[in-house]
Amino acid sequence: MANSVVLILGVGPRIGASVAAKFTSNGYKIAVASRKGSNTKTSEGYLSLKADFAKPDSIPALFDTVKAEFQTFPSVVIYNAAALTGPPNKDSPFSISAESVASDLNVNTISPYVAAQQAVKGWEMLPNEIKKTFIYTGNIMNVTIVPMSLMMDLGMGKSASAFWIGLADMMYSTQGCRFFYADERHEDGKFKGMALDGAAHGEFYAQLANHKGNVPWHATFVKNKGYVQFK
Ligand SMILES: NC(=O)c1ccc[n+]([C@@H]2O[C@H](COP(=O)([O-])OP(=O)(O)OC[C@H]3O[C@@H](n4cnc5c(N)ncnc54)[C@H](OP(=O)(O)O)[C@@H]3O)[C@@H](O)[C@H]2O)c1
Repeated sequence: MANSVVLILGVGPRIGASVAAKFTSNGYKIAVASRKGSNTKTSEGYLSLKADFAKPDSIPALFDTVKAEFQTFPSVVIYNAAALTGPPNKDSPFSISAESVASDLNVNTISPYVAAQQAVKGWEMLPNEIKKTFIYTGNIMNVTIVPMSLMMDLGMGKSASAFWIGLADMMYSTQGCRFFYADERHEDGKFKGMALDGAAHGEFYAQLANHKGNVPWHATFVKNKGYVQFK
């Protein structure tokens, strides 16, 4: 993996940090992007980029910068950022303004869509033998309604993204390109929520990047088990 690059869009102390550390140990070069990005190298040697994914047009420049820095496009792209807006009236999901819904939808769905467009464009420049992978960090909300107004924007965004990710995987998997909606669950299949495990994401995402284990696009997983199919 000496010349392979992973770009992690949305990086913080939990999933992002663990995934970056795991891919580093597997020999990848790492670029990370978030609003607190520094536009310099981090102490770990990652290329840190600053961007706000509420603005989808901030995405293409990140791919151009990665190409300029590493002389290659990322073979693995991980979209990990998410946004939600607390409703002013917690009993009314429709008390969230349309502007907030649109901005959160940009973070949860439109920016990852633009990232997938850019990923595919870059993959066309990479050798056939390199495995190409797009991983979107999801949650249970593409298949389950969590009955809290607070979850409105998050659930809308995850559901919409799950559709285009599933469609993309069907269209591209025969060409060595995989798209995954990764969703960590408890062993009984319940929503992981605040109990999510960063290291478990690192292990599973590294497996997904190897295209091992016949994991479908809807990649529900459990810590120390990997892919588990839930109803
Ligand atoms: N499976 C589950 O049940 C479950 C449970 C919880 C969360 N999740 C998912 O896990 C992901 C986040 O996990 P985490 O908090 O552990 O990750 P993390 O890597 O610790 O943090 C994600 C980072 O994304 C960045 N980000 C957020 N909004 C952004 C924006 N508008 N533009 C650019 N960067 C942005 C933030 O950094 P900056 O502040 O620097 O921008 C944040 O620190 C989300 O997709 C979430 O939906 C899943």
